[in-house]
Amino acid sequence: MSHHEDWNPRSDESLNQAITTFDRMRAECPVAYSDYLKWSVFRHADVTTIVNDHKTFSNQVSRHISVPNGMDPPTHTVYRDLINPYFSDQAVHEFEPTCQEIAGRYAHLINQAQELDFMAEFAWPVAVAMQCAFLGWSDQHIEPLTVWVKRNQKATLAQDRAELADCAAEFEVIVSGVIERHQNKDDVTARLLQERVHDEPLTRSQLISILRNWAVGEIGTMAAAMGILLQFLTESPNIQQQLRADGAKIPEAIEEILRLQGPLVTNRRKTTCPVKLGGRDIPVDSILSLNWVSANRDDSVFEDAEQFRWGRDHSQNLLYGAGIHYCPGAGLARMELKAVITALLDVSSDIESAGETTAAHYPGSGYATLPIHMLK
Ligand code: HEM
Repeated sequence: MSHHEDWNPRSDESLNQAITTFDRMRAECPVAYSDYLKWSVFRHADVTTIVNDHKTFSNQVSRHISVPNGMDPPTHTVYRDLINPYFSDQAVHEFEPTCQEIAGRYAHLINQAQELDFMAEFAWPVAVAMQCAFLGWSDQHIEPLTVWVKRNQKATLAQDRAELADCAAEFEVIVSGVIERHQNKDDVTARLLQERVHDEPLTRSQLISILRNWAVGEIGTMAAAMGILLQFLTESPNIQQQLRADGAKIPEAIEEILRLQGPLVTNRRKTTCPVKLGGRDIPVDSILSLNWVSANRDDSVFEDAEQFRWGRDHSQNLLYGAGIHYCPGAGLARMELKAVITALLDVSSDIESAGETTAAHYPGSGYATLPIHMLK
């Protein structure tokens, strides 16, 4: 069935002024159809309804296997139980010194430069280096994985199926090499290779899916988050100095800045029956695109939603989702981002903007380039 399009997610305006566009859509057409994203859901209340009803809104949206995000209970529960221990408080705590070392090393490196592009010189390499360290992969993977993520994002925006298939094949080659080398090691990748479900080892495609998600799936989100945080701090020198003076405020500031400008734009669901949402009749088997960025700027939930505020109640913050698919990596991401901001503020007396930024395009978020100036 073809529908009238309510908006175009790939127009110049949608790509370059994403937040303004989402705010306008939430006000004017909160459940909106487009050929590219199908049914976009912009309001906090509707997104919350969907993530809390996995029977009506299924995660099995694609033919491609995705462990555990593309699964529904009871299968989802089995694989979610398998991955949760890798992200336990203790695992995150043990990994913290490694992240502090990586963040500190790159912060010192960029502090030598007068002006630099924060995305290219810090956010991307640090996001990849942290994920490689988490998995136990060597630094040799940093460059190819960075190139891979950008290529895959470009192909996703263009809906270039041949290029996406090429990317998937290339990732399989990278992972095959990794699997070879990790058979007899003692790290996260080696532990995954030994996991069993119902007494069977993970299949090769399940393994590749998990490693793809952990190695590259979240790098784009992490790099975007770092850029969004830095850009905000250059525009808000008072808050920057408050954080420099009192590091204990950093975690709350990160939560609030990423509520204002989310680093992950959408996740999908599929209707298992006809539903009515935002006054629209949506047929069975329709794809919904939950817009986290928009939901978190909804002022029916957050007073003065477009303002940074200390002391907000973040229990409704959808940065890491909600319900059974709530991000298992939330604790890991929070720790990594805190290490990054702490290291950058520690080495500098001030961080300033050094010119115009360019927007990252969907499915990315935040900035493609972010020129900054670090003062020692
Ligand atoms: C700032 C960084 C991050 C943000 C904003 C974020 C956000 C999210 C959100 C909103 C979901 C829910 C998706 C849904 O409901 O369909 C999710 C799921 C997930 N995230 Fe994260 N995430 C981040 C970092 C990470 C990291 C570092 C990892 C692991 C290395 C990770 C692993 C996962 C996994 C495996 C799922 C799927 C869980 C499931 O389906 O049960 N995330 N994330």
